[in-house]
Amino acid sequence: AGTKTLTMIKPGAVKHRHIGAIIDMIEKAGFRIAAIKSVKLTAEDAMEFYAEHKERPFFGELVDFMSSGPIIAAILLKENAVADFRKIIGSTDPSEAADGTIRKMFAISKSMNAIHGSDSDESAERESTFFFSKKEMLEKYL
Ligand code: CMP
Repeated sequence: AGTKTLTMIKPGAVKHRHIGAIIDMIEKAGFRIAAIKSVKLTAEDAMEFYAEHKERPFFGELVDFMSSGPIIAAILLKENAVADFRKIIGSTDPSEAADGTIRKMFAISKSMNAIHGSDSDESAERESTFFFSKKEMLEKYL
C-alpha cells in the first residue's frame, strides 16, 4: 500500500561512495524500494527530465552535472511518500538543510545536492515512468 516518490542519488554522491549510507537512511525512514537501477543519463535525457526548469539560469549547470556520471534511480513507497521524503532529504541548498537530512550530510552545493525527490504525486508518476517500465515496478506494492 502507500504512495510513491521517485528519487535519484546524484552523480557526486555516487562518485563519493555514499549509495549505501543513503539507501540505509531511506529504509530506516520507513520507505520500501519498489524499483531501483544504476543509469547514466545523456545530456538529452537530463534536459527531458528537467524540462520544466529549461528557462532557469542554472539549467545548463544542472544538465551537465546530472549527465556527468552514473546515478541510482529508485521508486520509493510509503504513506505520504512525496512529503515525507522531502523532509528526510532537506532543503535544496545544503547550507539551509536541517541537521540529520540527507542533503545536510552529503550535498556539496545547490546543484551538486546529493539527491532528488519528486515534488508532487503527478511528478512522481511522470518521473517513475521516465526511468522504469511497468515490468520493473513491483505491482504488489503499487
Ligand atoms: P531537484 O530539486 O532535484 O531538482 C531541481 C534541481 O535544480 C535541484 O534539485 C537542484 O539540483 C537544481 N537547482 C535548483 N536551484 C539551483 C540553483 N540556484 N543553482 C543550481 N542548481 C539549482
